[in-house]
Amino acid sequence: MPNRIHVAFVAGLLATAAFGIAQTVPVIKEVPMKSTSPASGKQMYSTYCAVCHGVDGKGSGPAAAALKERPTNLAQLARDNGGKFPDAHIYSVLQFGMETTAHGSKDMPIWGPALRSLDKGSPSPEMEEHQRLANLTNYLKTLQQ
Ligand code: HEC
Repeated sequence: MPNRIHVAFVAGLLATAAFGIAQTVPVIKEVPMKSTSPASGKQMYSTYCAVCHGVDGKGSGPAAAALKERPTNLAQLARDNGGKFPDAHIYSVLQFGMETTAHGSKDMPIWGPALRSLDKGSPSPEMEEHQRLANLTNYLKTLQQ
């Protein structure tokens, strides 16, 4: 279901019986991908990524609290890679997903198929997928501190 990967933030209600109070907890819900322009990394980022990673990329989007893993601080990708922004690695993570680790499941969606599904009717969906991945990667570069 690649076109249902986009994540929305929904406030759920959890009654904590022990104390008799109601507390708001975030709940992750999958909704259809909203369309965006392949030319705008910024628009794609705010539509698909900010909900988890935050508008500034620092990892505190509204849905972050509902995840098992804390979203990576995207403003430090270059710093964490010895000062060089890891373009090829980021492009590949977005296209194919993160490498699996020994424990737990991955909260970070695989974006390649979902982004490709946005341009299904186009004569060259592969080119648009590439454009989307490249522009998202370039946008993340602009968030570096
Ligand atoms: C549902 C929440 C969620 C959404 C939406 C999301 N991410 Fe993530 N992302 C994560 C989490 C959580 C991690 C931390 C890695 C892990 O353990 O899964 C992560 C990790 C990453 C990483 C680090 C990869 C690495 O190798 O260190 C990058 C880059 C990234 N996300 C980019 C994006 C981009 C770009 C988008 C939008 C197209 C996006 N993410 C949307 C949750 C999300």
